[in-house]
Amino acid sequence: MDHILIAPSLLAANFAKLGEEFAAVERAGADWLHLDVMDGHFVPNITFGPLIVKALRPLSNMPLDVHLMIAPADPYLAAFAEAGADHISVHPEAGPHLHRTLQAIRGLGKKAGVVLNPATPVEAVAHVLDLTDLIMVMTVNPGFGGQAFIASQLAKIAALRRMIDSSGQNIILQVDGGITDKTAGAVLAAGATCLIAGTAVFGAPDYAEAIKTLRAAAPRKTAALAESFG
Ligand code: DX5
Ligand code: ZN
Repeated sequence: MDHILIAPSLLAANFAKLGEEFAAVERAGADWLHLDVMDGHFVPNITFGPLIVKALRPLSNMPLDVHLMIAPADPYLAAFAEAGADHISVHPEAGPHLHRTLQAIRGLGKKAGVVLNPATPVEAVAHVLDLTDLIMVMTVNPGFGGQAFIASQLAKIAALRRMIDSSGQNIILQVDGGITDKTAGAVLAAGATCLIAGTAVFGAPDYAEAIKTLRAAAPRKTAALAESFG
């Protein structure tokens, strides 16, 4: 894939200026805005709900990539869809019927995503690929920004790349957690096509430069893999 998608995670933004931060990453060349919804139950942190999605929606046409770290997720899918989410991604552990949840997201006219925690096997998504638009590999345990990249997930990214390619489905493979200029090359080499980055974008002095650096990891991805993970 030529164009690597960059989705800054709002979690690392200045929460007193969310609208300005959204505009700033759009100007800086981001493709999507990633929104981390946490409930203090499925993950040990609390962020925001559909009201923030709704408040940001009119500011831009940029796709809003909503990552639900809530359980149960099903009762809130319609609220996030109505608030203006374009993509809604759920963890298989957040409910008993992943197939039904993905059907519900598609039924709301949104792109449906499955998020795999570090310990969740690729098989969790193997039989629902026909209902899946996005697969997100967590390279940290969900709940917080700024954590260290878990390198054992590179093999999972590569396995999902093979699974997606042999399925013939049009599925975007995202990676979330600990993505920096040091780790981006390795995940791209393993087959990811969308990088989610909080700290590496919102923590940088120049958002455009940070986004450019992450995207530029693509051509030197093979070298980076060898360099970073020997
Ligand atoms: C963690 C979230 C991530 C987080 C990534 O639960 O899903 O999207 O914002 O933050 P960084 O890029 O700082 O690891
Ligand atoms: Zn996320």
